[in-house]
Amino acid sequence: MKFVVGNWKMNGTREKLREMINKTNGIKTENKVVLCVPFTMLGEKSDIIAFGAQDVSTHDHGAYTGDVSASMLAATGAKYVIVGHSERRMYHNETNDIVREKAARALESGLTPIICVGETMDEKRAGKTLDVITAMVRESVPADVHDKIIIAYEPRWAIGAGITPTAEEIATAHRVIAETLSYMGLDGTPILYGASVNATNVTDIVAIKNVDGVLVGCASLKPDEFIPIIESAR
Ligand code: 13P
Repeated sequence: MKFVVGNWKMNGTREKLREMINKTNGIKTENKVVLCVPFTMLGEKSDIIAFGAQDVSTHDHGAYTGDVSASMLAATGAKYVIVGHSERRMYHNETNDIVREKAARALESGLTPIICVGETMDEKRAGKTLDVITAMVRESVPADVHDKIIIAYEPRWAIGAGITPTAEEIATAHRVIAETLSYMGLDGTPILYGASVNATNVTDIVAIKNVDGVLVGCASLKPDEFIPIIESAR
């Protein structure tokens, strides 16, 4: 079983989501398929797909205009929430401390947080990839989580770029993340790879050691592209 998680980012419509649900209905897969969609599209049901959001408030309720809390997400039937995506870290200045708070709120409401980590091109060029992702894992994961979190390794420079790290680079990053999680008492936490995953490269990527699935951006938007990814991830 692999995780195949789609991140629609700020794309799509409820009609497009219903089309995806209809077209995936009845496909045979052992994989755990999740779609993280904009807040406004939550509330749909599917036998194949579980749903998630792409962000959550650090608060449970109150005067936080524009925010959506974990308990509100759970009430829609959502089971997952992406936290600390690089686009949130970049455009909304989310720090590891904020990401950790968000993950904690998600867990309190029974949601599985998909906590994203990944280096920038500058950090990669400076040879800091492993230090950066180790620190991000250590600081973004709430204390006392025993299970029910997922980590996604998303090298920022490869997101939406049509390029991926080499298999060796992915293997090294995932090994270091697995070791860090083990040190934190979180052996067995699923670690997903994300950034420029498509139907052509997914088979090779999920074959890499310590890669428990994929987090897919633009290739998750269309059934013609997403279904082959679901079927090829083994
Ligand atoms: P792309 O698959 O479009 O590169 O996006 C990856 C991503 O950011 C998923 O969260």
